Amino acid sequence: MKNPGIFSKKVCGLALAGMILLLLFACHAMKQEPIHPVAVVPGAEYIGMESCALCHAATVKDFKFARHAKLTVTLPDGQEVLGCESCHGAGSLHMAAGGGKGKAIINPGENPATCYQCHPEVQAFFSLQYHHPTGEQGITCNDCHSPHGENIMLPKGTLMGQQSAPCDQCHQEQSKPFVFEHEALREGCTMCHSHHGSINDKLLVASDANLCLRCHAEVMGDQIELGGGSHNSRLAQGPCWSSGCHTAIHGSNINAHLRY
Ligand code: HEC
Ligand code: HEC
Ligand code: HEC
Ligand code: HEC
Ligand code: HEC
Ligand code: HEC
Ligand code: HEC
Repeated sequence: MKNPGIFSKKVCGLALAGMILLLLFACHAMKQEPIHPVAVVPGAEYIGMESCALCHAATVKDFKFARHAKLTVTLPDGQEVLGCESCHGAGSLHMAAGGGKGKAIINPGENPATCYQCHPEVQAFFSLQYHHPTGEQGITCNDCHSPHGENIMLPKGTLMGQQSAPCDQCHQEQSKPFVFEHEALREGCTMCHSHHGSINDKLLVASDANLCLRCHAEVMGDQIELGGGSHNSRLAQGPCWSSGCHTAIHGSNINAHLRY
């Protein structure tokens, strides 16, 4: 080694530069990226969350801990406004009118277009062949999501556990308690159902036995072992939940092997 002093200086320098980079990166990651404003009320200006609080105090109080409360909007003069107006649009005209339904404010509960602008992947799922009914008679984002609350996945009293919370309110037949429950439901309905939409009937994440084999497979050579014996001949007859087989897939009150 010719000059260990210079060598260690270089190492120190590199380490320092690395640390600064890391720090910059960490700060960057901690700060939520400003969002391009998507909900547009023509002619209106941003008034900020504290102005909304004048008339919607309870909503603002809940919202402080909500997922979207961190969103900021960059305005032409560099000012950043928090929260409400990223979904409802700028509120100055609404406030000047003294507020009111349909008064210069967007309500994404009636039309999810605003949500789709920031969540295009969700729109793609809802465009698949099988999806929840939407439109006037249908269900909307806020049937399953609580936009103002701390828990954006609607927290409601649940029977099988928190995971199926948004589904329980409408699908009690599947989420009610059973004598012989299917433990898969404890992991949530989304283990088998694609919540926003699917290419498969019944919103299933897979249309064949693979739906079940993800959790149940015990492959011995070319034999699929299930329930203590080979299931190969049965699996050839159709999906596991087809007639004569595990038709009580969400749970059964009479049969431990999930049949009616
Ligand atoms: C993530 C998007 C989003 C954000 C952010 C948001 N809202 Fe909403 N807001 C909605 C949706 C969706 C509905 C429709 C809810 C419904 O019909 O159950 C709604 C409905 C409302 C309503 C009318 C119905 C009601 O619940 O009284 C008011 C008032 C309201 N929001 C105020 C606010 C205020 C104030 C803030 C900020 C503290 C805010 N919102 C932030 C999405 C949002
Ligand atoms: C001067 C009082 C006032 C202020 C300030 C105000 N609102 Fe409202 N707002 C009302 C009233 C009154 C209603 C009608 C009653 C209701 O739905 O709660 C209303 C209704 C709404 C609705 C439902 C509209 C509909 O067509 O369904 C939304 C969304 C809303 N306000 C959001 C906001 C947001 C976001 C802010 C802040 C940017 C805000 N409001 C500021 C008084 C106000
Ligand atoms: C201005 C852009 C914007 C709008 C409008 C918007 N969102 Fe979001 N949303 C985001 C961002 C960014 C995140 C991620 C926040 C985070 O990581 O904490 C998010 C997070 C979420 C999450 C939680 C995702 C998770 O991983 O936990 C849900 C659910 C959601 N949004 C639903 C909605 C619904 C429903 C609407 C319409 C009522 C809506 N969003 C409108 C930008 C937006
Ligand atoms: C039928 C109930 C239901 C409806 C309706 C619904 N969602 Fe969801 N959404 C869920 C569930 C359940 C999850 C969580 C999935 C998980 O954690 O495995 C979720 C997750 C999300 C996420 C997080 C990322 C992702 O794709 O998993 C976003 C963003 C979101 N929803 C936005 C929306 C928007 C926007 C709408 C309205 C157009 C909407 N959702 C309508 C049930 C629903
Ligand atoms: C606001 C009520 C509501 C909520 C919440 C809801 N659904 Fe639905 N769901 C419906 C309606 C309405 C239909 C269509 C009517 C029908 O065909 O039975 C449907 C249809 C379905 C279907 C297809 C049924 C068929 O016969 O094709 C499945 C699977 C389903 N929902 C699962 C879920 C899951 C999983 C969740 C939670 C992530 C959920 N739903 C949340 C109302 C709801
Ligand atoms: C282990 C996988 C699995 C889980 C977890 C699951 N489902 Fe299903 N679900 C299915 C299968 C498979 C079908 C199709 C049954 C058929 O076609 O006969 C189905 C059908 C449905 C239907 C249509 C009505 C029917 O019985 O045919 C609804 C609604 C439904 N599920 C809701 C739910 C809800 C709500 C949850 C959570 C509480 C849930 N499912 C959890 C596998 C599952
Ligand atoms: C998320 C994982 C998971 C998925 C997916 C799943 N199961 Fe299960 N299932 C379990 C667990 C855990 C148990 C309880 C432990 C056991 O008996 O293996 C169980 C139990 C069962 C039982 C009762 C056990 C017995 O002795 O007869 C049957 C039948 C069953 N599952 C069928 C199915 C079918 C059919 C599917 C596909 C529609 C499916 N499962 C999908 C996790 C899952």
